[in-house]
Amino acid sequence: MNRPEVRKAVFPAAGLGTRFLPITKAQPKEMLPLVDRPSIQYGVEEAIASGIQHIVMVTGGGKRAIFDHFDRSRELELYLEERGKHELLETLAEVNRLSDRCAISYITQKEPLGLGHAVLTAQPIINGDPCAVLLPDDVILGGPPCLGQLIEAYRQTGATVLAARRVPNRQVSRYGIIATAGGSGPLHEVTDFVEKPEPKDAPSDLASLGRYVLAPDVMTELGRIDPGAGGELQLVDAIRRTLATGKVVALEFEGEYYDTGTIPGYLKANLALALQREDLREDLLDVIRTMVDRDELSVRSGSARV
Ligand code: G1P
Repeated sequence: MNRPEVRKAVFPAAGLGTRFLPITKAQPKEMLPLVDRPSIQYGVEEAIASGIQHIVMVTGGGKRAIFDHFDRSRELELYLEERGKHELLETLAEVNRLSDRCAISYITQKEPLGLGHAVLTAQPIINGDPCAVLLPDDVILGGPPCLGQLIEAYRQTGATVLAARRVPNRQVSRYGIIATAGGSGPLHEVTDFVEKPEPKDAPSDLASLGRYVLAPDVMTELGRIDPGAGGELQLVDAIRRTLATGKVVALEFEGEYYDTGTIPGYLKANLALALQREDLREDLLDVIRTMVDRDELSVRSGSARV
């Protein structure tokens, strides 16, 4: 069947990042570095590698640095050119190429009314097309781009697609949790979807992580829903309402998932990514070996779980 390709992606990036205060007082959390790139750049790279041609950044006050990052800096380029710093110029060129390959629009969410409201804010640009949603806190690397896997599932089914992964029972209250009926291999038919249930009420341990392909009816439902969990407009509630008339599937995707929205998760992602870099790996391993030798890595009670 001929259905429109998924070419537009929404990045909800208006959150205040209070978990990271004070660094997020004057710095968008999406700009915090994962090694040497801002965390949001990983999502933008994934979207482009998945065939997205138009990104809609939903931002709020104090997010100017995101705009500047994806814009060209002639001043910096000139400075580096004059000094013959070709490698650094190439690093800037890599960022420039992202915005050459994909249009980036910015739209402001004037009030923090929830994820559903952030996605609805992008409606004038999405304009009835299917769209992807990428939550920048969730960084997914390795294997084929996660969003590309979801888009392929959309091509095959025409359904709204949720990126899914099983989580330990104690973590279900952090996620949208999915109930399924059958399905083949990693693709499941969704029968219910609940935002952040208590472990005792959770319909399963299958969590929705921060990648979605939304069939057009989800945007329509976003305009109709009432505030849900936490008094906010929830994307989960709009998707659940489409279950009556449309189809929703969950895909257990391939790839490494990092939740950079918490400090332990953010630090874990930095460590894992740095260890994957040839230019950093040996130095970092030296630091870790020294810590092991000095017995600085023994488990203390109350240590954070990632
Ligand atoms: C959001 C969604 C939730 C989803 C999660 C994935 O929650 O509301 O359904 O499971 O992202 O990271 P948040 O992490 O913004 O509280």
